[in-house]
Amino acid sequence: MKRTHWYKNAVIYQIYPRSFYDSNGDGIGDLKGITAKLDYLKELGVNCVWLSPCYKSPNADNGYDISDYRDIMDEFGTLDDWKEMIKAMHERGIKLVMDLVVNHTSDEHEWFKESRKSKDNPYRDYYFWRKGRGKNGKKAPNNWTSRFGGTAWQYDEATKEWYMHLWAVKQPDLNWHNPKVRQEVHDLVKFWLDLGVDGFRCDVITYISKVVRSDGSIPDGKWKPGIRGDEMFLHGPHIHEYLHDLNKEVLSKYDCMTVGEAAGVTIEEALLYTDEKREELDTVFHFEHMGCDMFMEVIPKKFDFVKFKKILGKWQKALFDKSWNSLYYENHDQPRSLGRFTGKFGDKRKEAAKMLAISLHMQQGVPYIYQGQEIGMTNVKFRKVSQLRDQLALNIYDMIKKIPFMKPIFMAIMNRRGRDHGRVPMQWSAEKNAGFTSGTPWFEPHENYTEVNVEESLKDPNSIFYFYQKLIKLRLDSDVSDIIRDGSYDSYYDNSKDLFVYTRTLGERKLLVICNFKNKDVYFEVPKNLKGKEAKVVITNYDEKPLKDMLLRPYEAIVYEI
Ligand code: GLC
Ligand code: CA
Repeated sequence: MKRTHWYKNAVIYQIYPRSFYDSNGDGIGDLKGITAKLDYLKELGVNCVWLSPCYKSPNADNGYDISDYRDIMDEFGTLDDWKEMIKAMHERGIKLVMDLVVNHTSDEHEWFKESRKSKDNPYRDYYFWRKGRGKNGKKAPNNWTSRFGGTAWQYDEATKEWYMHLWAVKQPDLNWHNPKVRQEVHDLVKFWLDLGVDGFRCDVITYISKVVRSDGSIPDGKWKPGIRGDEMFLHGPHIHEYLHDLNKEVLSKYDCMTVGEAAGVTIEEALLYTDEKREELDTVFHFEHMGCDMFMEVIPKKFDFVKFKKILGKWQKALFDKSWNSLYYENHDQPRSLGRFTGKFGDKRKEAAKMLAISLHMQQGVPYIYQGQEIGMTNVKFRKVSQLRDQLALNIYDMIKKIPFMKPIFMAIMNRRGRDHGRVPMQWSAEKNAGFTSGTPWFEPHENYTEVNVEESLKDPNSIFYFYQKLIKLRLDSDVSDIIRDGSYDSYYDNSKDLFVYTRTLGERKLLVICNFKNKDVYFEVPKNLKGKEAKVVITNYDEKPLKDMLLRPYEAIVYEI
């Protein structure tokens, strides 16, 4: 099979199925709902969808806990609905990338149910089972912590041993050191590829290989506050070998793409994962720019715009000609980018959203649009704990609720950082429940839906939606597509606290991208090497004007072709 690397010409739209569109009035988004909205995506112009998990799952982590890899979650429909959906996508020239969640399964997966029965069960070694420490083995086998809080081990009465879960208790980690587990993963990846899937977003893929000593023990991690043990499993000892095998045995036989979720990845490691010659993954999501308003991954701090630009620019330069970037500001684990990266936008929501779009979509890589980003959906103001749905948030709340002064701090953190901001229902119209469902929605829609919604966006020729449509067309089908795709990157005014300015250069041609990230007028001076050059406006969120030293209006963004 010749691999075409089609992802280099892709614009990917991420769907979080639970919150996208409910077709049958039970309050939960579903696959038929997605199929019903494909013409909308077609009109937007994206050519690929990344679908968050839709497999059978008891929903301890909204589908990221899978109990059957070869079937569909009851609430989302059936495998036949799925087949209809992918067919309808392909008919519209839209590819489908599925989520591949294989660091862990659900504790309700058959493998785990078997595994927990007895120490000599054939599935025992599919997971990490260890004796506890201390008197009676009632202390966890080591000091690793779970991303969902507390120890990463759960005691199980049946065999009086502990199993590892780096995420929720209901998400036991698979033991990739067992060749049978690797074979199972190969088989299930093949199963979906044979059904026509075009690729995978590989969930927490950098965690799959853990340090295990030759006597089978799993060592303690370095003591530090917060998450412990990650130096023992982040980019663990055999990860490159496992991914290379998966690529050789399965992925390389299909014209598919992969993107690995790679929190904590550095440029050097990213190149190991994605160097074409090494045959592992095609692309990764790094998280560096997501850390510009956070300390230790959770504690909010002031957004560092200068650092943000430097990180994005560093990745643009480092991967150029070697590998391919993933471009994203939002996903189902992150707050909305409006407000987060723009400061208070007041009545300039549309200008700010378009400016953010330009700043990202003129870079090199695969751009991702998270559902609702194309209509400028914003963060929610959560007032009480009962409004939250994310299990991670609720676990944290359980841990702190007895400490009275922590409650307001918790709500403040959730309002800045919570994963729920991106999970409220997609806002389709000004009708009841934002047009998401005719029943009672599983999650209350954002209160601004009467004003921010798809229907309104489709009516307004100046909407954020049509702006994204134009940006996508520029990338995929215009006379500057080649520059956007292949041009090299250079930045200007790196230390400016207001402006994000860069060029993309291909041969003699250049795009100059100017973005004012502030809700105020900012003076822009044409960089010396570009002064006096003939320039034509490619796209702007205000109105066209010649390239010269000028005062930029709040959130003004312009791209010139030079
Ligand atoms: C990834 C997913 C997140 C999930 C976690 C565990 O980070 O994006 O939503 O909770 O993996 O599967
Ligand atoms: Ca439904």
